Amino acid sequence: MIVCSCNVLSDHDVRSALHPEGGNASSAGEVHRCLGCSRKCGRCMHTIRKIMTDAGCAAGHAPARVS
Ligand code: FES
Repeated sequence: MIVCSCNVLSDHDVRSALHPEGGNASSAGEVHRCLGCSRKCGRCMHTIRKIMTDAGCAAGHAPARVS
């Protein structure tokens, strides 16, 4: 599913930006940066935050890494 139509980012792309191996976005705004693009219209931010919450990130912040 395309989440960000401005940058053609899918929900899978967003999830990949949350994983330490693929990126470590700690906020919805960092997701775009981790994926090599930038926020434009901002309509996707709510959906990105929801994906982060569903993935276990609290309030748009990634969970602490376990080292
Ligand atoms: S839909 Fe994501 S910046 Fe416009």
